[in-house]
Amino acid sequence: MSFSLPDLPYAYDALQPYMSAETLEYHHDKHHNTYVTTGNKLLEGSEFEGKSLEEIVKGSHGVNQALFNNAGQHFNHLHFWNWMKPNGGGAIPGALEKKITEDLGGVDKMKEDFIQAGVTQFGSGWAWIAVKNGKLEIMKTPNGESPLVHGATPILGVDVWEHSYYIDYRNRRPDYLKAFIENLVNWEYVEKLYNEAV
Ligand SMILES: [Fe+2]
Repeated sequence: MSFSLPDLPYAYDALQPYMSAETLEYHHDKHHNTYVTTGNKLLEGSEFEGKSLEEIVKGSHGVNQALFNNAGQHFNHLHFWNWMKPNGGGAIPGALEKKITEDLGGVDKMKEDFIQAGVTQFGSGWAWIAVKNGKLEIMKTPNGESPLVHGATPILGVDVWEHSYYIDYRNRRPDYLKAFIENLVNWEYVEKLYNEAV
């Protein structure tokens, strides 16, 4: 299989005022598209041709860094568009909320720790909620890495590369992360990934 760029699951201006149409145009049409086209060039003729995206991400990690960077970012961004929705945030589906309370010390603590992971990720990267050995964990990773290469399954991730927030928030990464968790997260999609992971 080769990589392809999906359409956004909403209009470019649907996440305003928390994420602008300009940000989504650059982020989706330029940045994600570059991961797709570069990834396809690197995939062609490699030992990973014909594998699934998750197999490519896991298999290329530490083996083919250039392919890993692009395949990893393709995987991350495919989910990232779905981790947001218009009028997001709000109530967390019951079973997932219960698990967050059990493993992450409650919804408020989870939000605080998720934001803190994003704030303290030095340079480019991602902050995550992942399932590892049946338990939820807050994680952070550099560049195009994800919990997939750390034996875990991501169920929520936020892009803290500057391309994700600089147009709207300039250097105020904490404000971007707060807006993401309070006003953008599509918890139904998080729940779907959680159910698939356990
Ligand atoms: Fe990004």
